[in-house]
Amino acid sequence: MSHYRMPILEETGYVVLDSYAGVLDPVEWQSLEYVDWKSSGDTRFAPLASAQGQIECNGFWHADPPKADKDGIWIPSQVSKAPTLARRAQGVGANVGRCRVIELQPNSYADALYNSHLDDNNRLNPEGEGWVIRSFMQLTDNRDSYMVLRSDILDPSTETRLALPAGAQLVVDSERMWHSVWHVGPEPRYCLINSFESGPELEAWINGLNPVTNVPSGPIDPVMAAASEPQAQERRAARAEFYGYDPSAVYSEA
Ligand SMILES: [Fe+2]
Repeated sequence: MSHYRMPILEETGYVVLDSYAGVLDPVEWQSLEYVDWKSSGDTRFAPLASAQGQIECNGFWHADPPKADKDGIWIPSQVSKAPTLARRAQGVGANVGRCRVIELQPNSYADALYNSHLDDNNRLNPEGEGWVIRSFMQLTDNRDSYMVLRSDILDPSTETRLALPAGAQLVVDSERMWHSVWHVGPEPRYCLINSFESGPELEAWINGLNPVTNVPSGPIDPVMAAASEPQAQERRAARAEFYGYDPSAVYSEA
């Protein structure tokens, strides 16, 4: 038996939905409590739901008792500051694991490639249950920044760059697709990220938002891209040599 996976993610590993139709008030993510947390790039996170309802960002398998990235416990002090964001995640009707706002400082395309990683979404997720994927809702209007996806991190031809205007909604099988964000700045980027369990509720929500499974890549300067690729790959290789393995292949973070 294996996990239930949604057919809509089979082709490309991602789907772009209609943008969020509601109103996003920056006060919500600006008033949240953030914690420094190692992730891909210069980041902080504000959890709205965590493994045990604490303001921390550990993988759910570190909880006592350990658990899969599902059944996140909502944090009242955070939900009260960002009720719209919590409702957005809860309103889908699917099982929510971690739910958090990420703050990402500006970076370069080479940084994004260096930071690209696979999420560890399904540790302890029992076979026969739904495959855990990630939902991203862009909060700040960063239409010149991209979510950079690759099916093979070593192969630029497998790359898709998805623009990030305010309200952009993406669903990504982030344990399958290498991902990171190239954020041009100058201000930090904020995004709501949560884990959802695949299943009929999530599929119904996706299908109601005009899902597109194959989006043309946003433009990039080919000279810059060609120069950045070996820089990033050399840094990735040096990191893997340092650790004796590639730590970005098993990231627990957003
Ligand atoms: Fe991630």
